[in-house]
Amino acid sequence: MVALAYLLSSVLFIMGLKNLTRVSTARRGNMMSSSAMLIAVLATLVDAGKVDYTWIIAGVVVGGLIGAIMAIKVQMTSMPEMVAIFNGFGGGASVLVALSYLWDKGFIGDDSQTLNAIIHTDISITLALSIVIGSITLTGSIVAFGKLKGLVSGQPILFPGNQILNILLALAMVAFSIGVVNFAQGPAEIEQYALILTAIASVLGILLVTPIGGADMPVVISLLNSYSGLAAAATGFVLSNNLLIIAGALVGASGLILTKIMCKAMNRSLANVLFGGFGQEAVGGAAKTGDQYPNVKSCQPDECAMIMEAAREVIIVPGYGLAVAQAQHVTRELGDLLAKNGATVRYAIHPVAGRMPGHMNVLLAESNVPHEQLCDLESINDDFRNADLVLILGANDVINPAAEKEPGSPIYGMPILKAYEAKTVVVVKRSLSAGFAAIPNDLFNYDNTLMLFGDAKKMITEVVQEFKDLL
Ligand code: TAP
Repeated sequence: MVALAYLLSSVLFIMGLKNLTRVSTARRGNMMSSSAMLIAVLATLVDAGKVDYTWIIAGVVVGGLIGAIMAIKVQMTSMPEMVAIFNGFGGGASVLVALSYLWDKGFIGDDSQTLNAIIHTDISITLALSIVIGSITLTGSIVAFGKLKGLVSGQPILFPGNQILNILLALAMVAFSIGVVNFAQGPAEIEQYALILTAIASVLGILLVTPIGGADMPVVISLLNSYSGLAAAATGFVLSNNLLIIAGALVGASGLILTKIMCKAMNRSLANVLFGGFGQEAVGGAAKTGDQYPNVKSCQPDECAMIMEAAREVIIVPGYGLAVAQAQHVTRELGDLLAKNGATVRYAIHPVAGRMPGHMNVLLAESNVPHEQLCDLESINDDFRNADLVLILGANDVINPAAEKEPGSPIYGMPILKAYEAKTVVVVKRSLSAGFAAIPNDLFNYDNTLMLFGDAKKMITEVVQEFKDLL
């Protein structure tokens, strides 16, 4: 029965992941994956036999309550932090399970017996891996969380000899891993080695993430997500638990694929993200204004409404600012009004718009924008030239023509939404400040661009009001 429950749970995990890839099925995917986890936990408890449920129930109540409160309270723009801390907990859990397994086995054997007789080498290798990857994930994720939350400086923190220290720590980690795997000694020594290994890997986790700029944390978090899956899979081998191996492998692989997608969408290599220090200035909120924009023309909500009244092909480009302003609901209202006026309305979603993968999709789904109106970069980029109006809501880097036209630009080569090709472009943002990449955006100077300065929610609310008056 337990094996069957694990099988059902594995299938549900896989189907849940599959369903999560589409906005229309994402909720179902979430339900499937949560049910899979519930089945897995229950089956594991049954499998463990007679256990004292007091602590388990207390843990479920306390943990569930904390999780529910966090999930309700967290802002969409703070999701990367939340994911970071969850990854860290996942890594930490793997280390604790691996260590307790070692302790458990160690104390079974008497001192005269070596652990070799109790734990097979293949298990001990995965045990060391679980400790190493789990500890790096735990402390690396805590630093990533701190950087995003502003508790740790978002600037890269590097000190002389940092890289050499990292290499020495990595070598020490290999040496102590061999110590853990080599069970020719008694349990006491092995346990000491395991603790030292945990400490070294934890320090390395900190030192690997501190030199990376806060602006690159989403990619780092995705990578750490993958690590937490690998740590869980390694722990699955330790416990001979097939379900943990499968679930860990799914997380490991999907985290890695996500990291690759993010790097590709930013046209950067993973090495450049981890060691390149890109976008560092943006963390401090660098603003580029003034002389760089001699040709800026601003407009008011009433003028914007008049342009909309005449527009037949409208493309809305959401960006990070839309999420900050929480303007998704009023944007949906505007989209409905445009459609009522006879316009074709579509939303162009750049793969790295916002601060996490799928950020814009989730935001727009929240306001029930019909998902057939959501278009990805490839499917809509050729249509910008036929658009009467492109409305850019709090997006900046993802529509910056420098990516195509300025070979020296840090974002050169990054695929962008070709908003500049439309007949009229209206950019809604509060100022001429730069986006995440901290570089000027020449689109604001273009003859066909109008700036509507202000908070996205406030401005779109005013535009909706003016538009209603016209209809
Ligand atoms: P950004 O380039 O970061 O630009 C966002 C703009 O929103 C800012 O220029 C800001 O201008 C404006 N804004 C902020 N608050 C606003 C408000 N309340 N109302 C109106 N506008 C507001 O955003 P993007 O175009 O979405 O690009 C995302 C960037 O993040 C890319 O560079 C991408 O590489 C990076 N990134 C994304 C991810 C993922 S997975 N999404 C991961 C890592 C990195 P004002 O201050 O003038 O208002």
